Amino acid sequence: MERLQKVIAEAGIASRRKAEELIVQGQVKVNGKVVTELGTKVSDKDEVMVNNKPIVKESKEYYLLNKPRGVVTTTNDDKNRKTVIDYINTDARIYPVGRLDYDTTGAILLTNDGEFANIITHPKSEIDKVYVAKLNGIIKGEQINKLKDGIELDGVKVKPSRVKLKKVNQENNTSTVEIIIHEGKNHQVKRMFEAVGILVDKLKRERIGIFNLEGLQSGEYRKLTPKEVAIIYSLKK
Ligand code: URA
Repeated sequence: MERLQKVIAEAGIASRRKAEELIVQGQVKVNGKVVTELGTKVSDKDEVMVNNKPIVKESKEYYLLNKPRGVVTTTNDDKNRKTVIDYINTDARIYPVGRLDYDTTGAILLTNDGEFANIITHPKSEIDKVYVAKLNGIIKGEQINKLKDGIELDGVKVKPSRVKLKKVNQENNTSTVEIIIHEGKNHQVKRMFEAVGILVDKLKRERIGIFNLEGLQSGEYRKLTPKEVAIIYSLKK
């Protein structure tokens, strides 16, 4: 189920704000009845009409991109920087699912299916977001234990589902850690390491649930298969 204004916006009729106006003004019908309530939710089976014309829904598209460094995770950037959308060859109004920082690389999903995006991002779905962080310094056992116990971010305790030391480089004074989380707070991984006193130099998301980067060089993408999409829907709680 999705909010009516979102469904109208996704059909390309109007911006989300304009769609809200259309609803409040009584220009939108759901299954033949005028709806003026902004919170109304509709499913794919409901017929939505704007000014008595049925809206045509865009078919759903799903992509996995191996995001390069120096790319923003938005649909358009006010500073004219390259965005993740620029990499995907489609006319559909897709958007990124969650966010990777400008300097973070790796797996990012893009779609025009809001429900799919919600399943991926909601912590309740318990989908692994697997990151490999190269740290500026050699992480100590006690710092790893603090992460495992859980630390506070934005007043909420967050706990990785796994933290694993992968590599230590004494010469360069760096270490590499794999960390798996289920949420996606802003700069979450970097802030988690910062909270235990060590900074992240490089961050890569290697996997989101069943989606790893196999066969995708930096900047390359592929479509998801219907079977992969069905697997994600089966995780809906
Ligand atoms: N956590 C971060 O700090 N940055 C990202 O890009 C993703 C997760």
